[in-house]
Amino acid sequence: MSKSQSIWVSRPLFPEVLASLAQYVDVHVETSEHKHTPEELREKLAEVDGAIIGLSDRIDDKVIAGNRRLRAIANLAVGYNNLDLPALTKAGILATNTPDVLNETTADYAWALLLAAARRVSSAERWLRAGEWRGGMRFDDWLGVDVHGKTLGILGMGRIGQAIARRAYGFGMPVLYHNRSRLPEAIERECRAEWVEKTALLKRADHLILVLPYNAQNHHAIGAPELALMKPTAVLVNIARGGIVDDAALAVALREGRVAAAGLDVFEGEPAVNPALRELNNAVLSPHIASASADTRRAMAQLAADNLLAALGYGPSAGHPPSLLNPEARARHDVET
Ligand code: GLV
Repeated sequence: MSKSQSIWVSRPLFPEVLASLAQYVDVHVETSEHKHTPEELREKLAEVDGAIIGLSDRIDDKVIAGNRRLRAIANLAVGYNNLDLPALTKAGILATNTPDVLNETTADYAWALLLAAARRVSSAERWLRAGEWRGGMRFDDWLGVDVHGKTLGILGMGRIGQAIARRAYGFGMPVLYHNRSRLPEAIERECRAEWVEKTALLKRADHLILVLPYNAQNHHAIGAPELALMKPTAVLVNIARGGIVDDAALAVALREGRVAAAGLDVFEGEPAVNPALRELNNAVLSPHIASASADTRRAMAQLAADNLLAALGYGPSAGHPPSLLNPEARARHDVET
């Protein structure tokens, strides 16, 4: 039976989540994964009241220009640098993201990358799989750097950064962090974390994890000058966004041993990866999967669905999407509902 509103889902999604949407709205879902061009996005969004989209779908003023129907966009991610929020707000289109449900899983993954890069897990496995072990192994082969007991630096101490910091206690690691503003003392105490200036963080951290959101000010927050301040024994982990690190400068620092190793889940211009990084054995690389546990990806998808339904006026939170990013857009949205 046709429903009064319809939505577009820009990528395949868990069937149970699609079923929860289909109780209320007509659902048009893409059956294969691909990066949509601005023209494709424009066409798809012109025909629906709402959409669930992914990080590779950039929604800007051009994509929504002249669109009189679209009322809500649910981003399938906590980061939303793919959304032009001012343009959506101006157009009265509600925008949502998926915070919190991914904090712990993403924090686990930051540690996975830190440990894997410090202890050379990926390159040792490649060596083993290539049958090289049969040729013997020296006692001083495969030496990594220690993680336990070292000072952990966190640049960007939001909720994921805090979840990373809490784990440091188990590794006996003091935590330094930098945010533009200090966290309340109670949170610092709970995370056993000390605020320092960015320069001090870069100089003092034995290992550094980046968790800051991407925006124009954070573009290349870690470039050649910042890498030059880091310890040559440091591991750098980026689970934040491509573009926060100058990947070309990082590749040079890794090649020259000015930074010991890197664990990278995000890349400038992904899914393309700087070829220089792909060649380096001291870089552990993964395809933007920090939140990808079965439970967490399901929770993110369900939260995106709940957000969208609520924004379109359905379900238990009708009219109040749990993770609304632009409440200012509501005025026009409500007038037109
Ligand atoms: C993933 O990068 C996210 O922002 O959820």
